[in-house]
Amino acid sequence: MALSILYLVFDLLLGVTAFSPEPRVTWELSEVNLTHFHEPEVFNYSVLLLSEDENVLYVGAREAIFAVNSLDISEKQHELYWKASEDQKNECAKKGKSKQTECFNYVRVLQPLNKDVLYVCGTNAFQPTCDHLNLLPFKLAGRNEDGKGRSPFDPMQSYTSVMIDGELYSGTSFTFLGNEPIIFRQSQQNQLRTEYSVLWLNDPNFVSADVIRHSQNMPKGYDDDKVYFFFTEVSVEFDFVGKVMIPRVARVCKGDQGGLRILQKKWTTFLKATLLCRMPEWNYIFNVVNDVFILKSPNLKEPLIYGVFTAQLNNIGVSAVCAYNMSSVEEVFAKGKYMQSATVEQSDTKWVRYNGEIPKPRPGACINSFDRAMNFNSSLSLPDKTLQFVKDHPLMYDSVTPLGNKPQLVKRDVNYTQIVVDRVKALDGNTYNVMFIGTDEGTLHKAISSEHGMHIIEEIKLFPVSEPIQTLLLSSKEEQRYVYAGSNSGVMQSPVAFCEKYSTCVDCVLARDPYCAWSVYRLTCVNILQEEFSIWDTIQHINGDATSCFGQFIDNVMVAHHKVNLGGTVELKCSPKANLASISWKLENQHLNLENPNYHPLKDSLLIFNVKKEDTGAYYCLSEEKWLHNIIFSHVIVKHVVELQRPLHTTTSPNSPATQREGNSMTLKLSPVVTEGSTTQIASTQIVVTTPTEETEPTSVSWMSVAFSPETRSTDLKFHVEKTSYLTKSNDSSLFLVLFLLFFVLFCCVFAYNCYQGFLPTPCLKFRSTLVPNKPATDFSDSEQGLKETLVEQSNAQNQNGEQLKPSQDTGYETEADYGNGSIPHQDESQKTEDNHNKDKPFDVIYDIKYADSDAEVD
Ligand SMILES: *[C@@H]1O[C@H](CO)[C@@H](O)[C@H](O)[C@H]1NC(C)=O
Ligand SMILES: *[C@@H]1O[C@H](CO)[C@@H](O)[C@H](O)[C@H]1NC(C)=O
Ligand SMILES: *[C@@H]1O[C@H](CO)[C@@H](O)[C@H](O)[C@H]1NC(C)=O
Ligand SMILES: *[C@@H]1O[C@H](CO)[C@@H](O)[C@H](O)[C@H]1NC(C)=O
Ligand SMILES: *[C@@H]1O[C@H](CO)[C@@H](O)[C@H](O)[C@H]1NC(C)=O
Repeated sequence: MALSILYLVFDLLLGVTAFSPEPRVTWELSEVNLTHFHEPEVFNYSVLLLSEDENVLYVGAREAIFAVNSLDISEKQHELYWKASEDQKNECAKKGKSKQTECFNYVRVLQPLNKDVLYVCGTNAFQPTCDHLNLLPFKLAGRNEDGKGRSPFDPMQSYTSVMIDGELYSGTSFTFLGNEPIIFRQSQQNQLRTEYSVLWLNDPNFVSADVIRHSQNMPKGYDDDKVYFFFTEVSVEFDFVGKVMIPRVARVCKGDQGGLRILQKKWTTFLKATLLCRMPEWNYIFNVVNDVFILKSPNLKEPLIYGVFTAQLNNIGVSAVCAYNMSSVEEVFAKGKYMQSATVEQSDTKWVRYNGEIPKPRPGACINSFDRAMNFNSSLSLPDKTLQFVKDHPLMYDSVTPLGNKPQLVKRDVNYTQIVVDRVKALDGNTYNVMFIGTDEGTLHKAISSEHGMHIIEEIKLFPVSEPIQTLLLSSKEEQRYVYAGSNSGVMQSPVAFCEKYSTCVDCVLARDPYCAWSVYRLTCVNILQEEFSIWDTIQHINGDATSCFGQFIDNVMVAHHKVNLGGTVELKCSPKANLASISWKLENQHLNLENPNYHPLKDSLLIFNVKKEDTGAYYCLSEEKWLHNIIFSHVIVKHVVELQRPLHTTTSPNSPATQREGNSMTLKLSPVVTEGSTTQIASTQIVVTTPTEETEPTSVSWMSVAFSPETRSTDLKFHVEKTSYLTKSNDSSLFLVLFLLFFVLFCCVFAYNCYQGFLPTPCLKFRSTLVPNKPATDFSDSEQGLKETLVEQSNAQNQNGEQLKPSQDTGYETEADYGNGSIPHQDESQKTEDNHNKDKPFDVIYDIKYADSDAEVD
């Protein structure tokens, strides 16, 4: 109970920390120019395949396959309906499946076989079928191959596939019931599959598969190409009350031919390892992988693996992106320890590190030139010992740790489902990896992670309704890059950037978008991929430093004219596009004192009551964004001109709307509140630099502003130095501070209480034991914290009785300590720390705690 409160406090803290960046800008579907593909009566657009040479995007949907122009997907080129027959549908319904939702042919595999043929598979009303799709003409060959192992039977089950040199590698389920998972290679001579065993695959949810050509740039036969599969499965090594999910990477070698006696027609190179993704500060573990993208690029030293993760109990909806370098994955498979199951008397399977002798050649390794030199020419000639070992030990003990040992991005209140990553060379010469991440609500987040921290450049609402993005694809053409997203309702094509939407230099630079730069000559924000730009005529700083925008003053600013009666009310509208910006107001060149009771600032407007003569003039609404804590960049987003209505001069009645032409601007009058206007060229950009000081004295704020009037086209430079309180902007931060203090105090109380009760691990317990010397530690000490920790940390738990463990006779395998009647006797903390010195014992035992009734003990 107490622990769940503690957990909640953690969650709250998690929310207020800077771990959850807000997208700087949110684009609604109506604001951006996206292209859409959808056929009436066709749903579930779940498979996409791009042919960049031909500019064709192939779309696999329910009972249909389309070919569309990849530069404009609304342009359909070919269509093919591939339906399950009426007999098949009836048979499917007879087996208890739904004719309205399940007994259809859902396309699940769409892979290129060669230039003219695609390999396609579908669920086909629970009778998976594969076929060849000839592209010219766009017709099926009618081969009707059995699709078992390539497409699932059930459309709700997971699937992934990759075509490598004419052989299809797939991960899916093999049976009607969907209870037999399989990683399968379809090939004429060398059909291979996984062993049907929970050690190999335990209820996996496949998310992705890809090949890494390790053999390239190597002498022939030196190393083999490797195929990686990514999935979340039920862990066998963590044995709790409920199922614990765990994200994995598995690998097989392309040259695998199966074993001769052992592992006949099975993979001899199947190994898997845990992908670690967690926030070390909070011990918050993301243990479900939803999608993986392998970033390969000729100018990358090695491929990078990007995965999107959520937590199993994602009640608060936190998602993360973790990146791994390929070499760290390879290292685990090539040099890591194996995991070993050991059965103890309670018939519980425990998992330990295998410390015994490893047969040679190394089990699960690809055959390389070294093995060939030893006369192991193929997996068929491998010794039985090696094959038996890999059959029993497919899981690695070591986990794959992410780059920087922490996520690239953590975001609250969102469930990420898909990811693709693009590489962009910015004008500073650095190359940035830009992540495009799809959510379960049909939006796309575009983010970068650099030494300046995580930053979500923009959020794009791709679909009119909230629905999960099922698949994402990126075109990597030099100039015309697009992201394609498939969902149940259709396919969307979005450009990778919306540079032209940033109307001012400050806005363009603050976007921190590697694709965008401000053109000094054109005075627009341009996409650097589409044309040649030199660093001399463009401004781009990925760190968001907009100081060079000083001097770039021509902005397109909306001007609105208002005519108000004396004593009337006027509403001045202003909504900044940037979610991170706040607004401030100026009347002519003076900051508006919003304390004045006649001013009523709202979220996206300012109301002025009882308008007097001195309230007339030009009001500027400034969008202010903080940069590096002490610099505020602001730029005018709208100008409102408020004038007093000249009484009796107009013929219109005061309450009826009227328009009036004034020079080049059109004014819409709505008395007493008047808004609307037209755009003219005026300019004003300013940079506020606040110098932070230790004293609480008001610090000086200097700002410079430049006004550029369209009529005269002459610049009018004014420099002001003002005394302004450093604390003026902290009105709402004091509320935040109070709230924070409140939570902090609450947290301290809970922490202290838990510490006192001994629910928290060692450092606190040491502290507690000095204060409360005689309180025995409870058995509960690790259960929930432990659940979070032990998922990935194979702690070197000691035999809890402090006894030396006896080596098991001759197996060389580690075994679990015998815990008598199944409970772990408690142990004093001081003893625990002492025991840590006995690290050299021959056993590493997996921490395994089972307390079905642990809550009862606390309450
Ligand atoms: C949208 O983009 C298409 C092609 O890129 C272009 O032809 C069209 O004019 C654009 N529409 C708008 C409203 O910008
Ligand atoms: C297909 O799409 C419909 C809605 O358009 C959805 O209800 C259904 O779950 C989808 N089926 C699969 C297998 O994705
Ligand atoms: C392996 O191949 C080499 C030459 O490629 C051959 O001399 C040798 O006999 C082969 N060994 C086996 C066990 O097939
Ligand atoms: C790969 O990642 C690991 C772990 O973060 C790191 O130690 C190693 O240096 C990285 N290798 C390369 C080539 O970047
Ligand atoms: C994320 O998914 C979980 C479980 O599917 C759901 O309960 C939660 O509401 C979702 N959160 C968001 C922000 O979509």
